[in-house]
Amino acid sequence: MWGICRRTVVGMSKPCGFVKPCHLVKPVSASRVAGRYLTHQKGLPSLPVPPLQQTCERYITALEPIVEVDELKHTKELLDEFKKAGGIGDRLQSGLEKRASNTDNWLSEWWVQIAYLEYRLPVVVHSSPGLVLPRMKFSDKQGQIRFAAKLIAGVLDFKTMIDNETLPVEYLGGKPLCMNQYYEVLSSCRIPGLKRDSVVNHAKSSHPPKHITVVHNFQFFVLDVYNNDGTPLTVDQLCVQLEKICSLSLETCMEPVGILTTQHRDAWGKAYLNLINDKTNKESISAIQRSIFTLCLDGAMPQVSDEMYHSCAATQMLHGGGSRWNSGNRWFDKTLQFIVGENGACGANYEHAPAEGPPIVALIDHVVEYTRKLETVQSPKVPLPVPQKLHFNITPEIKTDIEEAKRNMNILAEDLDMRVMVFGHFGKNVPKLHNMSPDAFIQMALQLAYYRMHQRCCSTYESASLRMYRRGRTDTIRSVSNASAFFVKTFDDPSKQNTEKVGAMEKAVKAHRAYTNMAVTGQAIDRHLLGLKLQAIEEKLPVPDIFKDTAYSKALHYQLSTSQVPSKTDCVMCFGPVVPNGYGVCYNPMDDHINFALSSFNTCKETSAGLLAQAVTDALLDMRRLLEQTPRAKL
Ligand code: COA
Repeated sequence: MWGICRRTVVGMSKPCGFVKPCHLVKPVSASRVAGRYLTHQKGLPSLPVPPLQQTCERYITALEPIVEVDELKHTKELLDEFKKAGGIGDRLQSGLEKRASNTDNWLSEWWVQIAYLEYRLPVVVHSSPGLVLPRMKFSDKQGQIRFAAKLIAGVLDFKTMIDNETLPVEYLGGKPLCMNQYYEVLSSCRIPGLKRDSVVNHAKSSHPPKHITVVHNFQFFVLDVYNNDGTPLTVDQLCVQLEKICSLSLETCMEPVGILTTQHRDAWGKAYLNLINDKTNKESISAIQRSIFTLCLDGAMPQVSDEMYHSCAATQMLHGGGSRWNSGNRWFDKTLQFIVGENGACGANYEHAPAEGPPIVALIDHVVEYTRKLETVQSPKVPLPVPQKLHFNITPEIKTDIEEAKRNMNILAEDLDMRVMVFGHFGKNVPKLHNMSPDAFIQMALQLAYYRMHQRCCSTYESASLRMYRRGRTDTIRSVSNASAFFVKTFDDPSKQNTEKVGAMEKAVKAHRAYTNMAVTGQAIDRHLLGLKLQAIEEKLPVPDIFKDTAYSKALHYQLSTSQVPSKTDCVMCFGPVVPNGYGVCYNPMDDHINFALSSFNTCKETSAGLLAQAVTDALLDMRRLLEQTPRAKL
């Protein structure tokens, strides 16, 4: 199984000093438009292929805290054979280097195929992240429509920057980042296949779409969002159109065709062929696929206590709550779906193949900012046509597929335990005060929490951005290191002095930051190992034994699958665990608090999102207490 940023990839960056984090620093002048994006992209370096020897050494070091001594010995033997001069490793390495010199990015095409399009579990929960925005101040239909109209206007405003190529270039550690993902998220959609899916992007077509799709009461509508003169509809115009849609779909549709997109990809691929056999269905689906994005105007969600509100909202954004609630009010193949609930719950769900969380969050930050602005735009007085409803002809066979999709979606929704927690005691401020990387500090708190719950360390994934390179996606930061293992074992050991504990914490945090620097500069191990394996397959060579090794499977069994997705808005992204006995943990560290979304599966008795949330809170507080009780002068 995989999850956000494909953490369990089939076998999936030069240590340097401190790499400064990502900042939006250089807005591009609006006058420099056409071709600017391409020029920027061309100026970016290519993803390097790390040296073979380096990866082999780092792989062994990464395995040390998570495998048994005899397993490690066996893996070392396999690696010695693999990397010996003139051996298979050398051959695959040269193949990879050749590929790197002939392509834009040696990894990205493979990555999208392997990590996403050939991944066959449902995109829901297993791959597509949700995003929960702060609760908006409305609680009726009118408020829902008004907010949705502003949201559409905000996305269109962002789209103008994409269309004009005036999007601010982002920087990491002073280096410009690849902006390609921004150009992939609008007007695009995943298409199911029998064995592998594909993604189409209509933004690049000669007639780019001018409409969005709106889904309300499980019924789909085409909403043209531009006037004839090319100007975007104003918020007032959009309100009028959304009201029309709502009044045309007062009753819930009994055959929620959208729920088919929650299915296992093979099942959906088969059902899809059947569905598009009908001309009307094919046209309706094409309208959804071509649309700029989908807006989901949701119905009610289960009533929950205030304490559980954000957790419930997270399930709404991640999977819709099941067939009784809003899972049918989606088209999960759509790259971007904005969700506006009727009780103020708002957010998004995105299909992961074209992009990572940060570009999506940057877009959403812009939208949220936009919705807060006062509207002063005068609407044209021209009456607008009624939005077109998309019709589907449901044959008995399709009905059976829908029923099966409902059952499976409900099982999945029941199984997912999702906890959103606002850790309100401190944020990035405290680790910074102690000269520690906040991200590394949080990761070490996660390690401590897991160790306290399970009395062992587990293979842990954190996504690292490779966007310093052209078309870069992600690599893995392996958060478990020898230093982290020593830290978690030392922390609760009554025989250890506080100074020793702080020393262990500092080393663990530094080790994590060093791995991060390595990963963001293209020198981590996971994507390189994956590349070597895929190169063997490409050259029709036997897959080397290092990839059939139990240690390799253990290394890829990420019981902690984690990601930092920072934002300006006080929101949090969420995703499911990537293995049945694992946790999914996404966090957004703000200056004085941290938003967490933690998930586990109810069918696994050894994991509990709620208990992990408590353990993370305790770990963060205990780590701060230790730092405060142990003045640095004494270290
Ligand atoms: N002392 C004081 N301050 C420090 C510090 C130290 N030792 N180390 C870092 N900081 C500061 C940084 O300057 C930064 O300051 P800011 O808040 O003013 O920006 C802040 O602490 C955060 O730095 P850090 O916590 O180290 O993390 P980061 O911002 O470098 O992020 C990653 C680390 C791994 C999250 C980032 O490199 C990355 O790859 N992000 C993309 C992940 C992704 O794609 N996720 C989505 C998957 S779908």
